[in-house]
Amino acid sequence: MKDSSDMSLGMSIDGKHVQAEPGSSVLDTCRAAGIHIPTLCHDPRLEPYGGCRLCIVQIEGMRGFPAACTTRVAEGMVVTTESDTLRGLRRTVVELLISDHQLDCLTCDSAGACALQDIAYDLGVASSPFQGDRHEPHPGDDNPLIERDYSKCIACGRCVRICSEVQGCDVYGYAYRGFEMLPDTAFGATLADSGCEFCGQCVSSCPVGALTDRMRRFAGREWELARTETVCGYCGVGCTIEFAHKDGVITGATAPLERGVNRGNLCAKGRYGYGFVASPERLTTPLIKRDGQFVAASWDEAFVAVARGIKNVTTKHGPDAFGGIASAKCTNEENFLFQKMIRAGVGTNNVDHCARL
Ligand code: SF4
Ligand code: SF4
Ligand code: SF4
Ligand code: FES
Repeated sequence: MKDSSDMSLGMSIDGKHVQAEPGSSVLDTCRAAGIHIPTLCHDPRLEPYGGCRLCIVQIEGMRGFPAACTTRVAEGMVVTTESDTLRGLRRTVVELLISDHQLDCLTCDSAGACALQDIAYDLGVASSPFQGDRHEPHPGDDNPLIERDYSKCIACGRCVRICSEVQGCDVYGYAYRGFEMLPDTAFGATLADSGCEFCGQCVSSCPVGALTDRMRRFAGREWELARTETVCGYCGVGCTIEFAHKDGVITGATAPLERGVNRGNLCAKGRYGYGFVASPERLTTPLIKRDGQFVAASWDEAFVAVARGIKNVTTKHGPDAFGGIASAKCTNEENFLFQKMIRAGVGTNNVDHCARL
C-alpha cells in the first residue's frame, strides 16, 4: 500500500492545477511546473535562505508576501506568482539593491549572465530612486583565479553558504554591519591565507559580477561564447563540465546544475585546470631521448623503443624490475587494457595509475 507521505499534493498556481511533492517548496513546485519566479539568493545546491525577497508570492489565507523558496507546499494551497502588487514590490527590491551598485555593466564580465541584470530588465528597472553611498571596489588579492569586486555584491550570502555547506571550507563569513556588511575572509586575509581551495564554487554561485574568474577577464562577452559539454578527464568521478570558448580558445569552465553526478559542482582541477589544452608545452607527438635530448618521433618509432626498453629491463632483471603507471585521463577500457598488458604481457603486478593527482 502507498505510504501517505508518498502521495502528491493538489494545489493551484496562477489558476493552474498542479501536483506537488510533499515537503517541497513553492519555488521548486513552480519551477517543476514551468512557472518562472525571479530569485537571487536561491541556489538549488544550498539550503533555502529567504534573504533577497525577490521570490515573494501571494498565498490565499496567508498574511503578507511569503518567500516561495522557504515556504513549503500544502494540500489545497492557492498561489499567485504574478500580479501588479508583486511586480511593484519586486521592483522596489531591485531598486534598493541597485541603489549602491556601480552598474558598470558595460565592462562587467558577468553582463549577459547576471541574474540582477536579467531581473531588472524583466521588471523594467533602469535606475533607482534611492540614491546614497556606494561601495568601493574591493582591493582584492593577487591570486590568479578569483576576482572579488564587492562594489557589485548584493549580500545574497551564496558564496558564504556554498563555501560552508558544500565545500566545508568556511573561508567567508559576514563581516562588518549595516551598509558595510560584506562576505569576507577572517581579518580580511587573502584567499590563499584563508584556507581557500580555489574550487571556484563561490564564483559559480554568485548571481552577479562580484565574484568572477580572473582567467576569463575580457576574454569574450557572454553572448559571444560557444559552449561544449564534456566529461572532466581529471579523475574517475567523471563530472559533467561545460567549456565556454571563443575562436577555439577555452575561456572558462562551469557545470550544469541539473545534470551529471556533480550537479553544478566542480573542484579546482575541473574548473581551472584547462590551461594544458592550449599550452605550448603540451606534447603533440611522442618524444624519444637520444644523446640526452628528447627528439620528436613517430608513433611506430615510439612503440619500438618502448618494446625494446621493456625487453631489456625484464631480460636483465626480471619482470618485477618493471612497473607501469596508467593515466586517470584514459577511459576505463584503456586502463583495463593497460593493466592487462603489464600483468599478462610483461608478467608483473607492478601497475598503478595517477588518480591521486
Ligand atoms: S553585476 Fe550585473 S548589474 Fe552589476 S555591473 Fe555586472 S552585469 Fe551589471
Ligand atoms: S574558491 Fe572554494 S574554498 Fe575558496 S572561498 Fe570559494 S568556495 Fe570557498
Ligand atoms: S559576493 Fe556574490 S555570492 Fe557573495 S554575497 Fe555578494 S553577491 Fe552574493
Ligand atoms: S530566492 Fe527566495 S528570498 Fe531569495
